[in-house]
Amino acid sequence: MQITLDTKTFGAVETDALVTHLFEDGEPITGRVAEIDAATGGLLKKLASSGELTGKTLEFTLIHAPAGMKAARLLLVGAGKKDSFSGATLRKLAGAALRYLKARSVKNFAFIVRENGATADAAQALAEGFITANFETDKYKTDKKNGKEVESIALVGFGDSEKSAGEKGLLIGKIIAESQNFTRDLVNEPSNKLTPRILAEKAGAMAKEAGLAVDILDEKKIAELKMGALLSVAQGSVEPPRMIVVTYTPANLKPGGPVIGLVGKAVTFDTGGISIKPADGMEKMKYDMAGGATMLGTIRALAALKPNVKVICVVPSTENMPGGKAQKPGDIQTAMSGKTIEVLNTDAEGRLILSDAITYAKQLGVTHIVDAATLTGAIVVALANVNVGVFGSNQEFTDKLLASAKAAGEKMWQLPMDDEYREFIKGSFADIQNIGSGKGGGSITGAWFIREFAGDTPWIHLDIAGTAWNDDAKPWLAKGPTGVALRTLVHLVQTY
Ligand code: BES
Ligand code: ZN
Ligand code: ZN
Repeated sequence: MQITLDTKTFGAVETDALVTHLFEDGEPITGRVAEIDAATGGLLKKLASSGELTGKTLEFTLIHAPAGMKAARLLLVGAGKKDSFSGATLRKLAGAALRYLKARSVKNFAFIVRENGATADAAQALAEGFITANFETDKYKTDKKNGKEVESIALVGFGDSEKSAGEKGLLIGKIIAESQNFTRDLVNEPSNKLTPRILAEKAGAMAKEAGLAVDILDEKKIAELKMGALLSVAQGSVEPPRMIVVTYTPANLKPGGPVIGLVGKAVTFDTGGISIKPADGMEKMKYDMAGGATMLGTIRALAALKPNVKVICVVPSTENMPGGKAQKPGDIQTAMSGKTIEVLNTDAEGRLILSDAITYAKQLGVTHIVDAATLTGAIVVALANVNVGVFGSNQEFTDKLLASAKAAGEKMWQLPMDDEYREFIKGSFADIQNIGSGKGGGSITGAWFIREFAGDTPWIHLDIAGTAWNDDAKPWLAKGPTGVALRTLVHLVQTY
């Protein structure tokens, strides 16, 4: 799918569909939409006064063969109230328009930006909206609904003076959205097609293509480094674990600057282990590697965007299986840091593998850590599939991330980390235990466990268990993997 900028006036654009949006304020036919109305001889005003065209969020009005235009169709998308309009709204309605037209076999369309809307940010949001909306999860379907592919999109409404800003935004949007789809593609893979070894191979191939350094630690190296927490989860599976390390080093790096560690949980399937999960819905646990996939997608985007900050991505990967060799509740493990852990529940495995990944990242020299993980069912109870749960040990660093989330249009919500919660994981027979002692606050307990290993290094934890997977398709996104948090992380590193 090609996205280009076209400086022609909209009346002269030859396309299968011209698309624009309108607002739900008193008079929806204003500005550029009024120009279209004039070109079509007052058709839109008529529709508005009949009550059919209101501008309500994601209201679609499709007009065939509009008089006075070269376009075969005119599609008007409601954008809701102007006051609450943002880049996030534009991204969503662009995506929804693509999916609407694609379902109707439209192959080429032009999207008209509104008056004063021809900016780099708008071009970026549009590219992101279109490319993420175009992603389908039909990889393993033999009938791919042939013919329903959008081939080209033109962005219209950019004048000559706005063109270079538009081109720049378009390019950034493409890089970010394609990386988000790279992540979603990994998350969508079932566990028989994506074992820790295969994930490591795919990470290696991505790194090679992107020009990034890669180091894959196999089970022997993991044992040599005494990563006892990761090994304890992996021991129940016939599939060996991997620790995937991908590094981005900017060309003219000045020494002494920050090194950002991106650590992501990649359990390619979580049965729960001996503390086995119920059968109902267990198939979804193939997405328990979404945190790792998000970090790999993020560093893929950074390799192309080239910020002036060093970034090290560390992804611990394993299956969590029951079996004759599996760890059992009550087992005591020694993590790479030397801390001992009493494993009270083998289903709280994400924090175990992250603990060794964080210790290793610190050994590699990271000065700041962000981890992303589908860590707890409790975050779904707290925030549903709407907000990412954010936890942090350093408010300044956490505020930066929250500001990036806002800028990237991703919903995130910080949860508290009072010292009182730390008591929940004090061990009876070891230094710490991997679940709280039955007092609720499951997501915070999980975060505290990880924080114990980050120590004094500024650290942020993103619990994406509720947001990494959409159970239902949205008008702008297919059902399944969302690629959440990637845009925020890219923004965080770029503005660091
Ligand atoms: N992978 C799960 C968390 C999860 C739940 C992800 C729902 C996506 C959707 C994690 O490893 C887990 O099982 N956590 C346990 C922790 C508990 C035993 C303290 C949970 O949330 O039940
Ligand atoms: Zn689990
Ligand atoms: Zn898990």
